[in-house]
Amino acid sequence: MKNNFYGKSFLTLLDFSKEEISDLLHVSAKLKAKKKANVECRPLEGKNVVLLFEKDSTRTRCAFQVGANDLGMNVTYLGPTGSQMGKKESIKDTARVLGRMFDGIEYRGYKQETVDILGQFSGVPVWNGLTDMYHPTQILADFMTIIEKFGHLEGINFSYFGDARNNMGNSLMIGCAKMGMHFTACAPKDLWPNKELIEKCQVLAKESGGTIRFTEDVTEGSKDQDVIYTDVWVSMGEPDEVWIERIEQLMPYQVNKTLMSNASENAIFMHCLPAFHNTETKIGKELFKKFGVDALEVTEEVFESVQSVVFDEAENRLHTIKAVMYLTLREPK
Ligand code: CP
Ligand code: NVA
Repeated sequence: MKNNFYGKSFLTLLDFSKEEISDLLHVSAKLKAKKKANVECRPLEGKNVVLLFEKDSTRTRCAFQVGANDLGMNVTYLGPTGSQMGKKESIKDTARVLGRMFDGIEYRGYKQETVDILGQFSGVPVWNGLTDMYHPTQILADFMTIIEKFGHLEGINFSYFGDARNNMGNSLMIGCAKMGMHFTACAPKDLWPNKELIEKCQVLAKESGGTIRFTEDVTEGSKDQDVIYTDVWVSMGEPDEVWIERIEQLMPYQVNKTLMSNASENAIFMHCLPAFHNTETKIGKELFKKFGVDALEVTEEVFESVQSVVFDEAENRLHTIKAVMYLTLREPK
């Protein structure tokens, strides 16, 4: 495989072709197999990466940290407080400073524009670890998981339930359109992705042999689907006030047993996590107290069922993020 990725940033899936996404997934599988076989693989020994987190994270932060360590790299973590970024120093200046010290930069935060500026001015590969607009590394892990379960991506009937215009809805639609999958967003019209992005994805789907569909009807949206996917109804950075409105809007779109039984016989349940599927979290308890709901986007029954592959997805964050760092940082011989 020719490495087309060296020196490039990973900011949105829109920047990569079907073949490139397949290559990334192929390398992820190879790295996973090596790790399982305890084969050491430290091609990036001595390099340094920085992880910038303006929002919380468990999976993404740990995947970058462990992945970088596995590949032989050193990691610096900068959280929401404690650096000058955005307060005393602009993103453009921060980019130029960090680019002088580090070989690669991961960013999780709010605006897509911020990660784009880091990519434009740092002079080193920048990886998008989630913005309000996109979450591209998550999609790689999800697609790796689908390949592990079904053997392929092309032709897969994929339905997303919930807030279809958040970072996950947007990125899954792009990914499915690129890879020749049949994507459905099942949500109230207000929560469909923006028109411009839909139009772009329709063109991509046409090229790849995929399709894009939108519906407000849960029975239609779940019928004969291979993958049922959902995400939180309120994303990081949104105000608490939207909870009540979102619960009212989205409760009919909760992934429950009835919805799953309408999907294909071999359907899997996916979620990027974290998920509100019971009251075992602080926020889960508060929502139960305020609104009397013991689960939101997915019921405990579906989350814990044999159809649920959510922890495979979580593990695959590591292998796919490792592949992104490896391919963008490894100098061609
Ligand atoms: N799925 C995901 O990005 O999880 P974290 O917020 O824990 O990184
Ligand atoms: N839409 C969610 C994804 C979390 C991984 C959020 O932005 O909070």
